[in-house]
Amino acid sequence: MSHKIVRKRQLGENVFWAQVEAPLIAQARKPGQFIILSIDNDYSERIPLTIAGADPAQGVIELIWQRVGKTTAELANMNEGDAIANVSGPLGMPTHIENFGTVVCVGGGIGGAPLLPIATALKEVGNKVLTILGFRSKDLLILEEEFAAISDELIVTTDDGSYGRKALVTEPLKEICQRDPKPDKAFVIGPTIMMKFCCETTRPFEVPTEVSLNTIMIDGTGMCGGCRVEVGGRPKFVCVDGPEFDGHEVNFDLMMKRMTAYKHQETTAYDDYRKHECRIGLDE
Ligand code: FES
Repeated sequence: MSHKIVRKRQLGENVFWAQVEAPLIAQARKPGQFIILSIDNDYSERIPLTIAGADPAQGVIELIWQRVGKTTAELANMNEGDAIANVSGPLGMPTHIENFGTVVCVGGGIGGAPLLPIATALKEVGNKVLTILGFRSKDLLILEEEFAAISDELIVTTDDGSYGRKALVTEPLKEICQRDPKPDKAFVIGPTIMMKFCCETTRPFEVPTEVSLNTIMIDGTGMCGGCRVEVGGRPKFVCVDGPEFDGHEVNFDLMMKRMTAYKHQETTAYDDYRKHECRIGLDE
């Protein structure tokens, strides 16, 4: 069964949003879960994307992705009405949602997309939600209105000061941890290095911190080992044991090393695709 792109928008220079037909996934998915898609056939690359939202009545799921390589660029070049060959899911364990009290939700860049359904669900069960969104600059800002609607407090930071507060997310995170009372729990999703430093920020305050890991994935069912990480000194598979883990237990340095394993192949594939992309329509 192929999956039609029903609606598509560009949210920023390299960030895209789409509604994709996937009725069974739309019914079953829970916050924190993801899909794996392949665009053409069984031989095209499989990439994991978090389900940013769903409308079971319309049978669609929402995807938000950043153009960072060949497959995400191919997806960005697709139009409404085009179909994705395979969408598998929902995969992974759903986020554990309960009324913790006060939660601080930290999203870095495109990490805001998977964070939004989690923050929304946390709000719905009665948590006080403090949100920190961080971007490199104003042109990368996404989902500010959506987070403002469900947050008791929203802080936006940019690295270059072009919007909101000029700071890294760890700065307001530390200030929030210093409050009395301190937050009861933190949820952090973003680049691996950001998640690592957020965990180092919350650790001395003993604020339990969940992170959602975005490793390389292939099968998404626990069989290939591609998504292996070390948590609490033990091997875990992000696709079936996660994607969320206790951030204070994650070996981020090992994870970052493993994530560069296919850097050469990824760069070559993307360079080849971009050369082809520049020639579309010129060959005749
Ligand atoms: S993606 Fe293969 S084991 Fe997780």
